[in-house]
Amino acid sequence: MKNIVLTGFMGSGKSAVGKRLAQRLGTKVIDTDDLIEERACTSITSIFSEHGEKHFRELEKSVVKDVSQLDNRVIITGGGVVLDPENIENLKRNGVIVYLPVEPDVAYERVKRRTHRPLLQVEDPLKTIKELMEYRAQFYANNDYEIDTFKLTVDEVVENILRDVKPFIGD
Ligand code: S3P
Repeated sequence: MKNIVLTGFMGSGKSAVGKRLAQRLGTKVIDTDDLIEERACTSITSIFSEHGEKHFRELEKSVVKDVSQLDNRVIITGGGVVLDPENIENLKRNGVIVYLPVEPDVAYERVKRRTHRPLLQVEDPLKTIKELMEYRAQFYANNDYEIDTFKLTVDEVVENILRDVKPFIGD
């Protein structure tokens, strides 16, 4: 089976959907953020604060390159993975890109009480969310399948993915 790769902004539901989807498919799930932290032996917050975003993106790129070699996985990506076209190119080689769009207000509500997202540790997170989303729209557009999670439960999103994407990923 090809990988199913979930992309989308912070708070789009990638983690919840990815874990449930993997359960339903009986496959392993990989989260690129977790792998980055594992390899760096530290948190994403400290990678950003000690070495900056550029360094984080380098680590992210190397993790993406490696997980792209695998198959039979659900791959949950960080919200900024799409910014480097090479990442998407690598992930598409053996995977189908499933994009979960989200409205700025919904993303904000989902992430506002969490402090582990360095890009949103700013005075006006909602404004930053809107700006980042606007800039990133062109990058998120590079996907194979898109499903808005707003009015759906996690299970409903997973059902849609199973119905529409599974036929294209093989056994
Ligand atoms: C980021 C999203 C985060 C994480 C890092 C940068 C981004 O992942 O990779 O903080 O640039 O949007 P989530 O989308 O899982 O929150």
